[in-house]
Amino acid sequence: MARSTWTERDIPDLAGRRAIVTGASSGIGLEASRLLAAAGAEVVLAVRDPARGRRAVEEITRTVPEARLAVAEIDLSELDSVRRFGRREVELARGLDMLINNAGTSGGPRRASADGFEIQMATNFLGHFALTGLLLPLLHPGGRIVTVASLMARRGHLSAATTLEDLRPREPYRAGRCYADSKQADLLFAVELGRRLRAAGSDILSVACHPGGAATGLGSQRARAAGRPERLTIGARLMRLVLQSARAGAWPTVFAATAPGLVGGELVAPDGIAQGRGRPRVVPVFASGRDAAVAARLWELGREATGVEFGGI
Ligand SMILES: NC(=O)c1ccc[n+]([C@@H]2O[C@H](COP(=O)([O-])OP(=O)(O)OC[C@H]3O[C@@H](n4cnc5c(N)ncnc54)[C@H](OP(=O)(O)O)[C@@H]3O)[C@@H](O)[C@H]2O)c1
Repeated sequence: MARSTWTERDIPDLAGRRAIVTGASSGIGLEASRLLAAAGAEVVLAVRDPARGRRAVEEITRTVPEARLAVAEIDLSELDSVRRFGRREVELARGLDMLINNAGTSGGPRRASADGFEIQMATNFLGHFALTGLLLPLLHPGGRIVTVASLMARRGHLSAATTLEDLRPREPYRAGRCYADSKQADLLFAVELGRRLRAAGSDILSVACHPGGAATGLGSQRARAAGRPERLTIGARLMRLVLQSARAGAWPTVFAATAPGLVGGELVAPDGIAQGRGRPRVVPVFASGRDAAVAARLWELGREATGVEFGGI
């Protein structure tokens, strides 16, 4: 496959466009927000901690003084919070051009969300499924929904026989397995949504992406939230040396949100060895994200778990 020639200079003029980026208080979400804002988009930083969101605004404004940014509160792990955010957006009636489903959590002890689901599945997939369904009517023609998956999506275990109970924290608990399942769900969802939008004749695109490996705070959120310093093992420190920057990790997201020529349902990933780093390009969707029966099952589970319908698609 040919290497990508994409650079940040290829981001089109986004003046007059409005984007919502979940998990924009750090890492890939913050850097994607910076790049979209630098191209002229108005960006809503959708974050669970408004104080961290305001710090992210300050950080972006240091390099993009003209950035048009707003902070809005949402906890993706709580369906009530997602519904509140959705209602506020509907009331605002500002419309939307890009929804970036980026927020994510990885690892940690066994934990149930407020709604009783495994915390990573709740945050990474169910919250974004609900948010997307609630905001879909606000998307302008030609709008895009980008969902951030992971290389770990290849390791998910979701099948056509998965039940709602499987999305709850189970014993024995394996956090890595649950993370992989949640990221497989993100990939299946983005591809299936793309297919459904096309089938309905919509020109709104749903695109999946993954960042390869990027040096962000993923995995140390709990320590951060508790005000403890991030403690990295020697292995993790070494990993940081080979990982690309958070900014490069945001390239697939920004490419998926803005590159011309996409039709929806694609996966965008770095073009380097094993998709670990590099410039963004479209790659074949992993087998774990292509199975139509699993995608249909996941869609049913998403609806059942969240009560959110995608009217008409
Ligand atoms: N870094 C990588 O190598 C890598 C690889 C594959 C996929 N990804 C994916 O990339 C996305 C971004 O992660 P990152 O690497 O940039 O890590 P990060 O710096 O930890 O960013 C994750 C963001 O998600 C937010 N978040 C977590 N739980 C939330 C919740 N319940 N409600 C709202 N926001 C919540 C965090 O908010 P707080 O600031 O409040 O903690 C943070 O802003 C994730 O979906 C992750 O799975 C990353």
